[in-house]
Amino acid sequence: MLNIVIFGPPGSGKGTQSEKLIKKYNLIHLSTGDILRNAIAKKTPLGIMAKEYMDKGELVPDKDVIQMVINKLDKYEGATGFIFDGFPRTNNQAEFLKNLLKERNIEITVMITLDVNHDELLKRLINRSKETDRSDDKDVSIIENRINVYNKQTASVIEFYKKENKYQSVDGIGTVDEIFERICKIIDKHK
Ligand code: AP5
Repeated sequence: MLNIVIFGPPGSGKGTQSEKLIKKYNLIHLSTGDILRNAIAKKTPLGIMAKEYMDKGELVPDKDVIQMVINKLDKYEGATGFIFDGFPRTNNQAEFLKNLLKERNIEITVMITLDVNHDELLKRLINRSKETDRSDDKDVSIIENRINVYNKQTASVIEFYKKENKYQSVDGIGTVDEIFERICKIIDKHK
C-alpha cells in the first residue's frame, strides 16, 4: 500500500499535484480542505462550524478534522493507497494518523514537502482569487494569516516526519509537470 502525505504551505501546490498523483498511482485523495468546503457548500453542522475558522484562515479544531479522516478511511477500506493533502496540520494530528493507520496495519510511506517561498505563495493565491470564489483567498490579510498559521502551527509537523525517517522535500517552484516529475522520483524510490 502506498500512503503519501503531501505537505506545504497554502498555495504550494498540494491540491494540484495530488490530482496528478491519484491518477498515476491509483490513490484515494484525502483532502481535509475539500471535505470541509463540501460540508460548507451543503451547510451541514460541520460546515457551519468550520466556516467560522476557515474564513479567518485559522485551523478547524483537531477533533472535528480527525473524525472526518476516520470516516474517509472507513469509506475506502481496501483502497490501494491514500494521498493525505492538508492533513496532518498539527503534531497532534500527525500522532493520531500514525496510530490510526497502525490499527489497520498500514503506515505512511513518505511525506513530501513542497518548498515554495512566501512571495510566490502570495502571487499564486492572489491569482487564484481572481478565478475562484474561495472565501479564504479573497483578502490578502487572510492569505497572510494562513501562511502565518502554517509557520506557527503546522511547519513543526516536518520534525515529526523527520524523526520517523519519512521526510522528503522538493523544490516547489517550476512548472506543474516539472514538480510532478520531482515528486514521482521520490515516490518511485520508496514504493
Ligand atoms: P486547504 O484546502 O488544505 O488549503 P491550503 O493549505 O490553504 O492550501 P491551498 O488549497 O490554498 O493550496 P495548495 O497547496 O493545495 O495549492 P494548489 O494546488 O491549490 O485548507 C483550507 C482551510 O481548511 C485551512 O485554512 C483550515 O481552515 C481548514 N483545514 C484544512 N485541513 C485542516 C486540518 N488538517 N486541520 C485543521 N484545519 C484544516 O495551488 C494554489 C494555486 O497555485 C492554484 O491556483 C494553482 O493553479 C496554482 N499553482 C499550482 N502549482 C503551480 C505552479 N507550479 N506554478 C504556478 N502556479 C501553480
